[in-house]
This record gives sequence, C-alpha cells and structure tokens, in this order.
Amino acid sequence: MVHRLLFHFLPFFLLILLSTAAADDGAVMLKLASSLAPLPSGWSTKSSSDFCSWKGVGCDSSGRVTSISLPNEDLTGNLPSELGLLNELQEISLQNNKLSGDLPSLANLSRLQSLYLDSNNFTSFPSGFFKGLTSLQTLSIGGNINLSPWELPTDLADSSALKTLDARQSNIFGSIPDIFASFPGIQSLRLSYNNLTGSLPWSFANSSIQNLWLNNQQMGLTGTIDVLPSMTQLYQVWLQKNQFTGPIPDLSKCTSLFDLQLRDNQFTGEVPASLVTLPNLVNISLSNNKLQGPSPVFKSSVKVTNDGKNNYCTVSGKACDVEVTALLEIAATLGYPSKLSDDWTGNDACSGWNFVSCDPNKKVTTVNLGKQGFSGIISPAFANLTNLKNLYLNNNNLTGSIPDSLTTLALQTLDVSNNNLSGKVPAFSSSVKLITKPGNLLLGTDISTGGGTPESSATNGGSPSASTSPSGAGKRSGIAGGIIAGIIIAVVIFIAVLSFVLYKHNKRRPSYGDMEKDDSVQVLGKNGGPSGTNGYNGLPTELHSQSSGGDSDRKMFEGGNVAVSIEVLRQVTNNFSEENIIGRGGFGVVYRGELHDGTKIAVKRMESTVMGTKGMNEFQAEIAVLSKVRHRHLVALLGYCVNGNERLLVYEYMPRGTLGIICLIGKFIATVHLRGSKELLLH
Ligand SMILES: *[C@@H]1O[C@H](CO)[C@@H](O)[C@H](O)[C@H]1NC(C)=O
Ligand SMILES: *[C@@H]1O[C@H](CO)[C@@H](O)[C@H](O)[C@H]1NC(C)=O
Ligand SMILES: *[C@@H]1O[C@H](CO)[C@@H](O)[C@H](O)[C@H]1NC(C)=O
Ligand SMILES: *[C@@H]1O[C@H](CO)[C@@H](O)[C@H](O)[C@H]1NC(C)=O
Ligand SMILES: *[C@@H]1O[C@H](CO)[C@@H](O)[C@H](O)[C@H]1NC(C)=O
Ligand SMILES: *[C@@H]1O[C@H](CO)[C@@H](O)[C@H](O)[C@H]1NC(C)=O
Ligand SMILES: *[C@@H]1O[C@H](CO)[C@@H](O)[C@H](O)[C@H]1NC(C)=O
Ligand SMILES: *[C@@H]1O[C@H](CO)[C@@H](O)[C@H](O)[C@H]1NC(C)=O
Repeated sequence: MVHRLLFHFLPFFLLILLSTAAADDGAVMLKLASSLAPLPSGWSTKSSSDFCSWKGVGCDSSGRVTSISLPNEDLTGNLPSELGLLNELQEISLQNNKLSGDLPSLANLSRLQSLYLDSNNFTSFPSGFFKGLTSLQTLSIGGNINLSPWELPTDLADSSALKTLDARQSNIFGSIPDIFASFPGIQSLRLSYNNLTGSLPWSFANSSIQNLWLNNQQMGLTGTIDVLPSMTQLYQVWLQKNQFTGPIPDLSKCTSLFDLQLRDNQFTGEVPASLVTLPNLVNISLSNNKLQGPSPVFKSSVKVTNDGKNNYCTVSGKACDVEVTALLEIAATLGYPSKLSDDWTGNDACSGWNFVSCDPNKKVTTVNLGKQGFSGIISPAFANLTNLKNLYLNNNNLTGSIPDSLTTLALQTLDVSNNNLSGKVPAFSSSVKLITKPGNLLLGTDISTGGGTPESSATNGGSPSASTSPSGAGKRSGIAGGIIAGIIIAVVIFIAVLSFVLYKHNKRRPSYGDMEKDDSVQVLGKNGGPSGTNGYNGLPTELHSQSSGGDSDRKMFEGGNVAVSIEVLRQVTNNFSEENIIGRGGFGVVYRGELHDGTKIAVKRMESTVMGTKGMNEFQAEIAVLSKVRHRHLVALLGYCVNGNERLLVYEYMPRGTLGIICLIGKFIATVHLRGSKELLLH
C-alpha cells in the first residue's frame, strides 16, 4: 500500500524537486539582474518567470540555466555569491565588461566548460574557486589588473579537460604549479604579464601545449628551458622578458614551431644549428641575451627581431677562432655559466678575458677556473688550447673523469683538487705537477692502470715537484689499502724485472772483484732516477716516528712504510726456531722463513737485550744504508717490525749467493750494493 502510494506520487515529488531547482535558478537570476548595471535588455529585476528568454541566457529543456553570455556589454556591478548554485551551468561569458568586486565561488560546477571573466575589474578569487570544475575546458580570467595578488591553485588539476588557461596580466605571483600532467589536452597556456617566478614545471614534459605565453614576468621566471624539446606540439613560444638561463636546447623535434620569442633573458651558449633549420619558423627574437659562438644566420623568410646585443664571437655566422671555440666547448661542459659568457665575449680569448692568460704570441697559457662553484665535467677540448701550461679547476663541483686528451698538452700544473672526479687518472708526463687531493674520493680507483696520482706513481713522476708535500704524505696514512696494494704490485713487477736484468748481468760479469769497482752510492727516486732531497731526508723521520710508536705489535702498512706484524713473523719463522737460524751478528740473529705465497724471507731480529741507543742507531742506520747504496746485487728489504724493544727487519732471502735488495721505505726505492747476503745480514 505504501509502495503503491509512493509509486503514484513519485512523479509529483520529482516535479516539485525540479520546479524548486528551476525556481532557485530564477532566484539566482533575479539576484544577478539586480547586481548588474545597466540592466541587460530583456532582463527584469522583478520577475524571473521567463529568465530563459533573457538576452544571453541559455536553458536546458527543464528550464535550468546552462549559459550566461554577456560579453562586451560595458556592464558594471558584481557577481552575486549565489551564482555558484546554478549547477547546470556550462558556460559563463562575461568578458570585456567592467565587473568588479570579489568573485563568487564556482566550486563544484561540474558541468562548466567555459569560463570567460577576462578584461574586467574583479578584485579577488575566493579560496576553492577552482575546485571540482571537472568539465572545464577554457578558463580565461586575464586582464583583471586589480586582482589582489594570487597564486595559481593546484585545485585546477581537477579540470582534466582543460584546453586553454589564459590568465594574462592578472597579478599572479609564485611559481607555475607542477600539475600539467593532469591536462592531457591542454593547448594554450597564456600567463604573460604577471609576477611568476621559479622555473618551468617538469610536468610540461610531453605536454600538448601549442601556445606558451609566459613573457614579461615582473621578477622573471628562472632556470633553463630544457623541458621545451619534449613539447613537440609547440607552435608559439613567448618567453621574452624573463630570467631564463642556460643554453637554448635542441628544438628540432618541435617541427610546428612558428614563433619563438626568447629575447631579454639570460640565455648563454651557442645557438643550436637545429634552430636555423626549423621547417616552420617564421618569427624569432634572440636579442638581449648572453648567447655565444657564431651568430646564427636564418633564412630570409624568417623575421628576426634584433633590437639588442648578445655575446656572439662573430656576426656573420663565421666560425670562431680555434681557441675561442675550445673555450666555448669548455664552457659548454660546465653548462655555459653566465660568468663564462659575460667575461668571454668577442673572438679573441687574449683580449683580457677573465680566467684566461696568454703568452705574447696570443696563445692561451693559463686557464684558472678554480673556486667558481662550477659543476659539469672537464672538457676534452682543453687539448685544443695547444700552448696551455697551467690549468686550475680546483674547488668546483666537477664530476666525470680527467680526459686523456689532457696528456697531449705540455702542462706544468694541473690542479683538480676539491672536486668530485672519478675514474682512472691518465698517464701524465712526470713533468706535470698534478694535484688531485684533497677531494675526488672516487678518483684513481682503477689503480692497476698506473696513472698519475701521487699515491700510485711508484713508477711514474719522480721530479721533486711531482712528489707530494709532507702534509700530503700525512693525509696518505689514511688512504685505502688499494693504493698500497698498487704500490706493492708495482714493486713486485719492479723486482721481477730487476731480477731478470740482474740474472742476465751476472751471467756476463760473474766476478766479485769487478763489482767492487761499481760501489757507487746513489739514492733513487721513485722513478728510478736520482731523487730529490725530500725523499732521502724524509727517511729517518719516518722511521723514527715508527720506532717511537714501538708499543704496537701490528703496524701494517702504516704511514706508507711496510710494517709487518710480529705474529706474521712468528708464524713464518716457526716462532723463531733454532733450525731456521741462518746466521748471527753483533746485533741480532737472522732467521729464514717463508710467506704464504712462497716468498722466502730473512728476518733479522735485534734482540731486546742488546737494544739500546746503539741498537736503535743500528736499526736506523741499516735502513739508511739500504736506502743509499746501489748495486746490481740486491736484497729486498720487504719491511720491518717494531715489537716492544725488539726491532726486526725483513729481507727477501736469496740463498744463491747474491741477493737483491730493494728497500721500500715510504715512497722511494733504493738499491743496495752488497758483496753477499750474509755480510749484510750478519754484519
Ligand atoms: C564541493 O563539493 C565538495 C564535495 O562534494 C564539498 O565538500 C564542498 O563543500 C563543495 N563546495 C561548495 C562551495 O559547494
Ligand atoms: C577597478 O576597481 C578599482 C577599485 O577596486 C577602482 O578604483 C577602479 O576605478 C576600477 N577600474 C575600472 C576601469 O573600473
Ligand atoms: C613579485 O612577487 C614577489 C614574490 O614572489 C614579491 O616579492 C614582489 O614584490 C612581487 N613584485 C611585484 C611588483 O608585485
Ligand atoms: C615523455 O615521453 C618520452 C617518450 O615518449 C618518455 O620517454 C618520457 O618518459 C616522457 N616524459 C614524461 C615526463 O612523461
Ligand atoms: C612576431 O613576433 C612579434 C613579437 O612577438 C609579433 O609582434 C609579431 O606579430 C609576430 N609576427 C608574426 C608574423 O607572427
Ligand atoms: C679541436 O679542434 C678541432 C678543429 O677546430 C676540432 O675538430 C676538434 O673536435 C677539437 N677537439 C676537441 C676535443 O674539441
Ligand atoms: C655538487 O653537485 C651536486 C650534484 O649536481 C649537488 O647536489 C651539490 O649541491 C653540488 N654541490 C655544490 C657545493 O655546488
Ligand atoms: C660525487 O659524485 C658521486 C657520483 O659520481 C655522487 O654519488 C656523490 O653524491 C657526489 N658527491 C658530492 C659531494 O657531490
């Protein structure tokens, strides 16, 4: 019964609901009519009975208002807050009037497709104005110059059907919100003459925007325009009068581009060749930037607005000078920083360019880009500055590796310290003063390739200038085992080669008598040539510092010296057993032993009972002697051990008469002349 009753009255209820809505629309329209002046023709402020026939008002079949279209009517007044109740509205076109006051909220007008409020005198948007406008395709609110400053709301992301957003000259400040991925069909974004700041949002990537008008911002948009190349639908790009930086990217995928306005920014770098060949380009401006390289030459059909300068090297499109070209390539790998445009203008790098010094022949000899906060990589194009002697790149934020091409230069100084370089260090000539530390923690990890780091240059470098300072040596005590491993590998190779040479040599000249004549005394630098004094003078100091710390049993590879642990020596000599004794001398006993890898060693143990000043002196003297004398018969001093009062020296053991000695102390290698192993070992 109740059901039947309900069924019977349902249409009636619906009718009441609908007529209530229509009546509400009528009330809203009356309110609107009384808010506008002059009253549009056919409108009434008394009766809303036929509002669907008022000028500019559209209704659907059920009498709901779907559109209000009164553009260019010179209307004054304001919009009543009830406007948002017309929830069947699809279009509001009130542009080009003199409407003022606060805008009512239009939130949740989910059928609204077009909203034209531009060229009026509105003063503010209520918060949430743009919420729930899920059908909105066109939003045009520009030209309301008295709007109190507002920011583009992220609420706009609800309008996923948006095709046009036009809010020119409407007091927008802040950044462009990163919501453009929500607008798959957007074609036109016109935000010129506002106070937008910040950079282009990354959601511009792959967007279908055709008209991009962001020109003439008060403070200026910043950052690069690197997102443009992915916006392949671009047709008209107005970015003039901003603060954009960096180079103009390759826009060759933007084949529809017809109008490109980039003037009055801070663009640097060379104009990409692809810009000149854009198929549909008609209108372009590039003036008042910091563009570099040859000035571009466009087809005669292209209208080039040219009312300002750039930093081009040539005006006719001719190639720049070779050194200028090289320096521009260098600037390119640093992202074309502004400094390297402001200070590097014209076509003569020797005309007083900052960061660059030249010789009298107008060849660049020094490039000093230290401490500039640059990031990027080191350009291989430095190699094209053929007279370059000094290159300072220290204290920047450079990544990547040191290009091999730099080894082709007759460099005197290369300072790359305090960057973030990685990879192997190219093999520079020993005459290069190469400074890689501090910083560059990842540099030279590929140690087996040798290279120029001071740490790994056991077979390289060698001039006094190439050896590191005492402070550098101190820092090295903390370096990774890999570098020590590198040194050991280098030494082992050196021993092998030396042994081979000695073997050959011995066959030819077996007589000891002959050898005595060869008792030349010579200290070798790490490259095998005569060393500077710092290597030799450094020795006793290093040794002393080791001895003074003699309370430690384990001093493996500290401070660059090869300290061997007492445990290892106990193990390999069978705890200094009697049967391993191969000799006794005034200051100690010599034991034989064998390392795990089969290396035969002789351990000279200076016992604590005889250790005193005399023993200490002997210990030092022995290493000093091993360091000084040189002969083709060699014994290798493999390391030493300080154990309480004991001092132990570890030699390579060669039972067959002559021995090879290479004394590896710190960084340098000395070869030692001996008559025979026993004499040295036993004194
Ligand atoms: C819009 O709709 C949401 C949820 O449907 C509601 O919370 C909000 O109050 C509505 N806003 C207006 C102004 O009607
Ligand atoms: C716009 O509104 C302001 C007040 O907000 C008023 O001073 C100004 O005269 C108006 N301009 C026009 C063109 O109506
Ligand atoms: C532009 O916006 C910034 C804040 O983003 C503000 O500090 C500055 O005063 C604004 N400039 C003008 C002219 O309104
Ligand atoms: C843009 O499109 C390219 C190719 O379709 C794709 O690789 C890239 O990830 C897209 N970028 C964004 C931000 O969607
Ligand atoms: C070229 O650009 C200028 C400045 O934006 C504009 O005034 C002019 O109408 C454009 N010319 C064409 C042919 O589009
Ligand atoms: C050096 O200059 C030559 C000719 O100017 C050029 O072909 C070459 O690419 C340049 N090399 C580097 C590493 O830039
Ligand atoms: C160095 O570069 C990295 C990555 O580009 C950046 O995160 C860092 O802030 C930079 N550091 C300095 C001091 O510029
Ligand atoms: C140095 O570079 C590495 C990668 O090359 C990076 O992981 C690290 O964050 C960088 N460090 C600094 C301080 O920029």
